[in-house]
Amino acid sequence: MTKIVMATNNANKLREAREIFSELDIEILSLKDINVECDPDENGQTFKGNAGIKAKAIYNAIAEKSGVNMAVFADDSGLCVDALDGRPGVHSARYAPKGQECAKLLGEMKDVPADKRTARFVCSIVFIDEKGMSLEASGACEGSIGYEEKGTNGFGYDPVFMVGDRTMAEMSADEKNAISHRGAALRELYRVLKERYGE
Ligand code: IMP
Repeated sequence: MTKIVMATNNANKLREAREIFSELDIEILSLKDINVECDPDENGQTFKGNAGIKAKAIYNAIAEKSGVNMAVFADDSGLCVDALDGRPGVHSARYAPKGQECAKLLGEMKDVPADKRTARFVCSIVFIDEKGMSLEASGACEGSIGYEEKGTNGFGYDPVFMVGDRTMAEMSADEKNAISHRGAALRELYRVLKERYGE
């Protein structure tokens, strides 16, 4: 069975990736599974740039620790709001202290009319194979910014990000994964890896 390291310890991200990859003869390992810690500065200008920084750092950390090259992938994601010229974008994680990002965003959007509240979650994944060759997969989820926080599921901007008439925080994990930016990027990566590792 091929082992691929996902550069995360986030249980929801791991579960989603393992579900999507379950049909292939691929085992997705977390950083904890391989006992590697790695938290590089995500100072890229793009989601792809940041995913690449993380993937390369993990690839190198594994090689340094164990002397072998393993296939790895890392993701980077965020929220791009049209009325804010794409902000918070790559700065989504640092836009406001954890738990206050929705309130700050609603404040910035308070005078923006309904038809100008469009936004999307974007996710970029960079995969590096055993030989050091890299490729990218990406996904997006279109939606809009609501007027108040609704729902208790999810994290980050989920309580204000609406798809149809519900926020992502009002959806179950399975409902969200079926339409999410990360799910779309993982499924694109799956299609590429299926050709390489499948049958
Ligand atoms: P990361 O790349 O998964 O670490 O995400 C960066 C930041 O983007 C997070 O800290 C969240 O603020 C935001 N974000 C990314 N994906 C989501 C999502 O699915 N829901 C809500 N916020 C998200």
